[in-house]
Amino acid sequence: IKKIGVFTSGGDAPGMNAAIRAVVRTALYYNVEVVGIGRGYEGMINGEFYPMNRRSVANIIQRGGTILKTARSKAFMTPEGRKEAYNQLTNQGIDALVAIGGDGTFTGAKIFGEEYNIPILGLAGTIDNDLYGTDFTIGYDTAINTVTDAVDKIRDTAESHDRVFIVEVMGRDSGLIALRSGISIGAESIMIPETKTDIEALLNRLEMSRKDKSSRIIIVAEGEEDSGGAFHVADVIKNRFPTFDTRVSILGHIQRGGKPTAMDRVLACRVGVAAVEELLKGRKAEMVGLVHGKIAFTPFDHAIKHHVEINQNLLRIVEILSL
Ligand code: F6P
Repeated sequence: IKKIGVFTSGGDAPGMNAAIRAVVRTALYYNVEVVGIGRGYEGMINGEFYPMNRRSVANIIQRGGTILKTARSKAFMTPEGRKEAYNQLTNQGIDALVAIGGDGTFTGAKIFGEEYNIPILGLAGTIDNDLYGTDFTIGYDTAINTVTDAVDKIRDTAESHDRVFIVEVMGRDSGLIALRSGISIGAESIMIPETKTDIEALLNRLEMSRKDKSSRIIIVAEGEEDSGGAFHVADVIKNRFPTFDTRVSILGHIQRGGKPTAMDRVLACRVGVAAVEELLKGRKAEMVGLVHGKIAFTPFDHAIKHHVEINQNLLRIVEILSL
């Protein structure tokens, strides 16, 4: 391998810059050229290539977002788009790739790698933590800390006004942001797509704790559908308890920004170094993750398709501690 291309694709996540830096510096350490590709697959097709040196990635480890920018490319889903991308890579002399992103990114990487026999390794970069084959994805730790910080603030005002807050957090198909941030902020209840939502049970809990709690916070994952969404949950609560003062707060994209936590930076550095070292040894078509604290490799299709199991013990903890 002579020249590695690195790119970020899909939704951004804090720690992507730390991952780019790790890939660039590791490649240079092994005397391999490295090129940054702008705006993911879209930039690959349009020829957005930036030769990288050690200084190109200076002072980015602590920055949120991605210096390479990111996009969700429709063109890359077509054979013509991928052909153009391959032609562009060939013109640049790029003979291996590191893809940083989530399931859409790895779906593209799997197809592209097979079609053109180009070695690609992936780094899991998404706040959702919804990839199989890594305990945590880059960005997840920062996102749950952001949620914790935001909801602690909501708790202050909820407590002052004796209010019930329904807080919607991100997670398109996954409740993992809701689960850990819910534990961390001491949520009354969490609602996630992976488990059946029992609104009656929630109403009963609210009834039970009626006398001895002044504020209550219920965390609803964006992807949860059983309940009808945060506003609907608020309506149901208002109907049952007309005296409860109820508010909804949608945290939104603040969850995607901000300085990555130390855990996300270290994770990004570890998987970034491993990706380049393993590409040089001939590995391809796998996601590099961390399982039980050790570097682990998972074929792209497993990482995407295998469902991340919800830790039942964490759900039990919410139940026990919210009484
Ligand atoms: O996949 C990360 C994520 O933040 C999801 O949790 C969310 O549903 C989605 O991206 C939002 O995407 P967009 O920024 O395109 O609105």
